[in-house]
Amino acid sequence: MSEQSQKKPVTPVTLATLRAMKQNGEKFTCLTAYDATFAQVLEAAGIEVLLVGDSLGMVIQGQESTLPVSMDHMVYHTQAVKRGSQTALLMTDMPFLSYTSTEQALENAGRIMQEGHAHMVKLEGDARILDSIVALSRYGIPVCAHIGLLPQSVYKLGGYRVQGRDQAAAAQLLEHAQRLQDAGADILLMECVPASLGQQITECLEIPTIGIGAGPHCDGQVLVLQDILGLTQGLRPRFAKNFLQGCDSVQAAVENYIRQVKSGEYPAPEHCFK
Ligand code: KIV
Repeated sequence: MSEQSQKKPVTPVTLATLRAMKQNGEKFTCLTAYDATFAQVLEAAGIEVLLVGDSLGMVIQGQESTLPVSMDHMVYHTQAVKRGSQTALLMTDMPFLSYTSTEQALENAGRIMQEGHAHMVKLEGDARILDSIVALSRYGIPVCAHIGLLPQSVYKLGGYRVQGRDQAAAAQLLEHAQRLQDAGADILLMECVPASLGQQITECLEIPTIGIGAGPHCDGQVLVLQDILGLTQGLRPRFAKNFLQGCDSVQAAVENYIRQVKSGEYPAPEHCFK
């Protein structure tokens, strides 16, 4: 194990921590967590950010997509993760159709912060979420904006497809990223975009970026916990990697993931899109 992977956060990770890591060129790590036990293990391994993703609809509930996930589900799982977490920055997804107006976004983000005790919320979208980001930001709620492949729009997109591949689509994503930052987004998450676009957006923005299938140049990486433990059945996304192979515990697998992200070993070219 490298020295870097043993450098576990002892003081709470905040947005300021992530901004400083971006400035210093140190990669940060994020994994999904849905319960207290795994939250504890992930934190003990040194993860900086825990994401209570609405992917829980698929990996916990066995649904076909994330769409059936409700606000009550997100609050329940955020509370569970919070009980197992002391130092990580806790981010929770706002579920499908829970932020269609600024009023609704404020009310539901308020529940995630007040009842779930999350530190920030994540919203999927482009220009349509700008007003909500302005409002959340104005009332002191930190926001991560999720662009690229939007799982909540999977039926509209026609499947889980790479986004921003042609020049016009890439330029549009770059423009959206800048507008989301200007609206007050604190982090930008990119899913399934070409590595070159992940790099361009990361270099253009002042706020930290997190990538999933967005190449090695993002400031941080995020993966679904079940994917890194090799538990995902059926078709696995290109960026998924089993970090448990060769390890003798879940914590060792997470330490392996953290070490490989921080050293730049993950994501390798075979995990990236062109
Ligand atoms: O819901 C989730 O787990 C996510 C990740 C895929 C980033 O949004």
